[in-house]
Amino acid sequence: MMLCDMNWLCLCLYDEVLMVFLELKCAWHVTKGVFGSKIDFGKMATGQLFSKTTQALFYNYKQLPVQQMLDFDFSCRRETPSVAGIINPGSEGFQKLFFGQEEIAIPVHSTVEAACAAHPTADVFINFGSFRSAASSSMSALKQPTIRVVAIIAVGVPESDAKQLVAYAKANNKVIIGPATVGVIQAGAFKIGDTAGTIDNIIQCKLYRPGSVGFVSKSGGMSNELYNTIARVTDGIYEGIAIGGDVFPGSTLSDHVLRFNNIPQVKMIVVLGELGGREEYSLVEALKQGKINKPVVAWISETCATLFKSEVQFGPVVEEGKITPVEEVTPPQIPEDLNTAIKSGKVRVPTHIISTISDERGVEQRYAGVPMSTLVEEGYGVADVISLLWFKRSLPRYCTRFIDICIMMCADHGPCASGAHNAIVSARAGKDLISCLVSGLLTIGPRFGGAIDDAARYFKDAYDRGLTPCEFVEGMKKKGIRVPGIGHRIKRGDNRDKRVELLQRYARQHFPSVEYMEYAVQVETYTLSKANNLILNIDGAIGSLFLDLLEGTGMFTKQEIDEIVEMGYLNGLFVLARSIGLIGHTFDQKRLKQPLYRHPWEDVLYTK
Ligand code: ACO
Ligand code: LMR
Repeated sequence: MMLCDMNWLCLCLYDEVLMVFLELKCAWHVTKGVFGSKIDFGKMATGQLFSKTTQALFYNYKQLPVQQMLDFDFSCRRETPSVAGIINPGSEGFQKLFFGQEEIAIPVHSTVEAACAAHPTADVFINFGSFRSAASSSMSALKQPTIRVVAIIAVGVPESDAKQLVAYAKANNKVIIGPATVGVIQAGAFKIGDTAGTIDNIIQCKLYRPGSVGFVSKSGGMSNELYNTIARVTDGIYEGIAIGGDVFPGSTLSDHVLRFNNIPQVKMIVVLGELGGREEYSLVEALKQGKINKPVVAWISETCATLFKSEVQFGPVVEEGKITPVEEVTPPQIPEDLNTAIKSGKVRVPTHIISTISDERGVEQRYAGVPMSTLVEEGYGVADVISLLWFKRSLPRYCTRFIDICIMMCADHGPCASGAHNAIVSARAGKDLISCLVSGLLTIGPRFGGAIDDAARYFKDAYDRGLTPCEFVEGMKKKGIRVPGIGHRIKRGDNRDKRVELLQRYARQHFPSVEYMEYAVQVETYTLSKANNLILNIDGAIGSLFLDLLEGTGMFTKQEIDEIVEMGYLNGLFVLARSIGLIGHTFDQKRLKQPLYRHPWEDVLYTK
C-alpha cells in the first residue's frame, strides 16, 4: 500500500490497471493550461442526499427495478417502502408489489403534478422514461417544489435538453443524476432503480448496511463491479453513485466527491473515471484547491500497467482513530419470487383450479385435446365442440347431427313462449342485450325448457325398473309429481309438436336403438288417454332420445350415463339453443324501436 504525497491510495484491482494518480498528476498540469486555475463547482447540495426515510416517485413503471428497490428496502429493514407512487401517463390505479412477504399496492398517477400532490414527502423523481420523453418529464418534476433530486435513466437524451435541465437544476438548487445513469445506492437506506443489480449481489456487497466508502463513477456496470470489490477490501460502500456517461451530466464526479467530503461517515472516496472526458480534470482541480481532505482513490479505466514500477497493494484504510469498522448485521432473508423458485425447482405450488376440458396454453387452443386447426380442417361443427367440451370425446357423426337438430328445434318457439316474452319485455324496457337474454333464460325451469333432465331421469328409472306406463304415470300422480316431458300449453294430441316428430324420425333412421324413446311414446299414449294436452313435448323427446344416444354409442359406461343424467347436462342443450332465439327477439324489438311494454288492464283479473 502506498500513501501518495496527496494522501491518495493506489488501487490495484486488475491486470490492466488503473492507477490514476500519475494520470491525475499529469492532468493536474494539463488542467492549468486547459481550464485556468478555477472551476466553479456550482451550488450542488453539499452533503448526504438520501436517508432511510427517503421516498421516490417512479416515472414510467417497470416492474423489475421497482421490485428491486422494495427488496433492497426490506433488506435494509426500512419501515416504509422507498417508492411512494408511480406515474404512468394516461393511467391510474394501483400496482401490486412485494415488500418482503407482504403484498402492497402502490398508487399509480397519470401526471407528475398529481403524483407530487398525492405524495408531498417523496422528494426523489426516478425517471425511467424513454430518451424521447425523459427531458420534458424531468423538467416537469424539477418544477415541482417537492422534488429535490431527479435521476434520469434514459440513454440518448439530446445534449441541448440535458443542458437546459442542468441549468434549471443549478439555478433552483436541485440535483440531477444522469442522464444515462443506472442510479444511486445509499447503503442501508435507499437505492434508485437497478443500481447494484440483484438482491443477491446487494447482500454479497453488504449494501444492506452503510460502510465508509463514498464511490462515484460514470459507468453503471463498473459500479456494480466496484461495489463488490470495495466490499471485499474495505468495510463497504456508504454511498455509490453513477453519474452516467453523457457529455453534459446533471452532476459531475467532483460534485459528488465534494459532497462525500462533507459527509462525516465517508472516510474514503473512490472515483472511477474514463479516458476522454473532462470530469477527471475537475477532480484534479478540486484536489489542487484543497477542497477535498479525505483519501481519494481515483482511476481511469485504461491500460497502464507498464506505468507501475512495482506491484501495488490496496489495503484497508484503517488507521488509528480514522475508521471504526461498521457493526456487521444480518439482513432479513428476501423471499424469492414464486416463479423464480418454481423454475429453479425449489418449491412446488398446489393448483387451486382443475380443468380437464380445454387448454389454451401453447401455440393453439385444444378442446379435449383436439387442436383448433383440426376442428377447422376436418369440418367439425358446433355440435362437435359440444361433444368435446361437454362430453370430453368426439361423438360419432350421427350423434353430433342429432345435437345439431336439437339446437335447431329448440332455438325458438315464437314470441309467446315464456322466455321470448321476457326478453321482449326487457328489450322494450331499454335493457342491454345481455340483460334481455338473461331475463329470457331465467324463465327456463321445471315447466318450461328445463324438464329435459328430469324427463331423462324419470323415464330411465321407470324403464330400467320395468314399470308399465300406467304404473309409472299413476305412481308419479300419487307422489304429486307431474311427469316431466309430458304436456304442453298449446300442443294437443291432434296437434302434436312437429319438432318431436322430426327428432323421432331422425332417431329411428340413425340410432342403433330407440328403446327409451319408444317407452316415452307408450307413456304419451297413456297420458293422452287422460287429457288431450298431455303430449310428449320437446323436453320429453330430447330427454328420452339422449338416453338412447348415450346407450347406443357404446362410448359411455353405465356410471357415466347415470352421472350425465344426474348432473343435468341435457337442460344445457335447451339453454344453449334458446339463447339463439332470445337474442333474435331482442334484436327484433330494438330494430322495431318498440316502446315500453305495459300489460293491458283488460287482461288482468283484479279481485280480492
Ligand atoms: N303429468 C301429469 N299430469 C299433468 C301434466 C304432466 N306432465 N301436465 C299437466 N297435467 C295435468 C294437470 O295435473 C292438470 O290435471 P288436473 O286438472 O287434474 O290438476 C291438467 O293436466 C292440466 O294442467 P295444466 O297445468 O293446466 O296444464 P298446462 O297445459 O298448463 O301445463 C305444462 C303445461 C306446464 C307443460 C305441464 O304439462 C307440465 O308442467 N309438464 C311437465 C313439465 C314439462 O314437461 N315442461 C316442458 C314443456 S315443453 C317446453 O317447455 C319446451
Ligand atoms: C317452447 O319450445 O318454447 C315450447 O314448447 C313451450 C312453449 O310455450 O311454446
